[in-house]
Amino acid sequence: MRMVDLIEKKRNGLSHTKAEIDFIIQGYTRNEIPDYQMSAWAMAVFFQEMNEEERANLTDAIVQSGDVIDLRAIAGIKVDKHSTGGVGDTTTLVLAPLVASVGVPVAKMSGRGLGHTGGTIDKLEAIPGFSVEITNKEFIDLVNKNKVAVIGQTENLTPADKKLYGLRDVTATVNSIPLIASSIMSKKIASGADAIVLDVKTGAGAFMKEFDKAKELAESMVKIGRDLGRETTAIISDMSQPLGFAIGNSLEIAEAIDTLKGKGPEDLTELCLTLGSHMVVLAKKANNLAEAREMLEGAIGSGKALQQFKVFVEAQKGDPSIVDNLNHLPQAKYKVKVEADVSGYVSSIVADKIGTGAMMLGAGRATKTSTIDLAVGIVLHKKIGDAVEKGEALATLHANNENINEIIERVKESYSITNKAEAPRLIYDVIG
Ligand code: URA
Ligand code: CA
Repeated sequence: MRMVDLIEKKRNGLSHTKAEIDFIIQGYTRNEIPDYQMSAWAMAVFFQEMNEEERANLTDAIVQSGDVIDLRAIAGIKVDKHSTGGVGDTTTLVLAPLVASVGVPVAKMSGRGLGHTGGTIDKLEAIPGFSVEITNKEFIDLVNKNKVAVIGQTENLTPADKKLYGLRDVTATVNSIPLIASSIMSKKIASGADAIVLDVKTGAGAFMKEFDKAKELAESMVKIGRDLGRETTAIISDMSQPLGFAIGNSLEIAEAIDTLKGKGPEDLTELCLTLGSHMVVLAKKANNLAEAREMLEGAIGSGKALQQFKVFVEAQKGDPSIVDNLNHLPQAKYKVKVEADVSGYVSSIVADKIGTGAMMLGAGRATKTSTIDLAVGIVLHKKIGDAVEKGEALATLHANNENINEIIERVKESYSITNKAEAPRLIYDVIG
């Protein structure tokens, strides 16, 4: 086989066989296929698409390019959740202990990553002492014992995706549904998931801003999952504004604890109950969504979910006193209110702009080597549809630096206030 012939084949709109896809992915991973040929191929895929069979074969080839985590030593059906990302998405921190508290094993492999805030691992490290530096054996033992543990991502997970994603980023080929779907699904499958719940975001703050595109991506990922033997369900949820109130690492830990106590933001709570219900059903711990939801609401009401979080934190050497004393989490030096200039109703909040504001405060990494400040971030007090009086606080900035006028302006500009506005819908669709 020659790569040049395969590029030509895709350029002409023909489909690849499984052997051809394996050749491309293996060759690229081993540096036998150069970046320029892979770029041309990715661009051909961008324009000519891939059929369902090619997408499943591509995903499988990416999975096989590196280590595949074996979670068979953990009893039960391991259900993983993935979000396509957004601003202030605190769901994993709530869902992991919540579904574990009703008996679903959660063996979560997470990353740090670039973005407005750190990844799940960074957020957890805001808990004094918390460590994800555990061996695979400790990880598996902890899940068997406590139903939940989180470990940092293995170095050699889907190396083909790491290389290809980096290449796509600089060749204008990120935004291709077959390439996105295979990239996301390969990571979930290689991490050992038996079943997968996807939270595909739509709206101005999402990766897939238009609903139709989000739906197309969700349908493609569900199909890939099933073709590769993993039950998969996708929720399409709103990211027209940040989720919950908090954007920042320790701020989101506090928000997750509030939510586990039943005192969290309405949208975050509802999304966690929806995603969690699907996880519980896929794990076969409930017969239907209504039963699953009742179990989860019961676990929040009885304090069982919160207790599960404490056990999880303690098992990974974190200080469990944060649960009862949120001020044991890292605190920023300055708390600065952003006030409304006019009265009315919040009609929009530009999520990306708020997210970048959090990053400018130091909550996220701009490059792989930047360090993040776990204490800083933004807490919103007003969401879309809320009434606001002139002079009332829209948000509070948690900062460790006094020179933040630019960020105050940025957050203020993110808000639009008009005569009338309604809260957006939270769940748009369920696929699967
Ligand atoms: N996220 C991923 O993991 N991969 C993509 O291709 C796009 C978003
Ligand atoms: Ca949040």
